[in-house]
Amino acid sequence: MALIQLIYTSTLVNVGPTVMADILQSARRINKLRNITGMLLCANGGILQVLEGEDVDVSKTYRSIELDTRHKDLFLLSKAQVTERQFAAWDMGFRRMTETEFNNSPIAVEVFNADRTEIANRVKPGAALTMLVLFGQGVDVVD
Ligand SMILES: Cc1cc2nc3c(=O)[nH]c(=O)nc-3n(C[C@H](O)[C@H](O)[C@H](O)COP(=O)(O)O)c2cc1C
Repeated sequence: MALIQLIYTSTLVNVGPTVMADILQSARRINKLRNITGMLLCANGGILQVLEGEDVDVSKTYRSIELDTRHKDLFLLSKAQVTERQFAAWDMGFRRMTETEFNNSPIAVEVFNADRTEIANRVKPGAALTMLVLFGQGVDVVD
């Protein structure tokens, strides 16, 4: 059984007031059942999410996420086997970056502003993971 960590970025399509809460509610319910953990970071209309779990569960979940019309332009930054979870505390942690945090974070500007055709060259998966770890510390907010 392989423990997998998958990181992707996308752009939110429907930014209605309850969209994020709706997404998180169903994500957390399903993730708990599948023993998936992770963190979702939202900034400037973009999403950066990490999913951790057994390969079969992460793959199944990512396929559903790919088909979800509430976001678009998904880009898979990395999918790698890991020895332990880095986000074990959350079925899905969530954090919305403030404008100040966003503007002061060069990595965030890269990830959330990157031209989709350039994203593979510009965004280093390691940097994206660092940002998820940094902003994930001590956070469990619905919205
Ligand atoms: C940005 C975003 C993040 C999501 N994260 C998860 C997640 O971590 N786990 C999950 O099960 N569904 C997540 N979803 C919801 C899935 O896309 C999907 O609605 C849900 O898994 C139900 O899938 P199903 O209709 O194929 O059963 C996310 C959706 C979006 C738009």
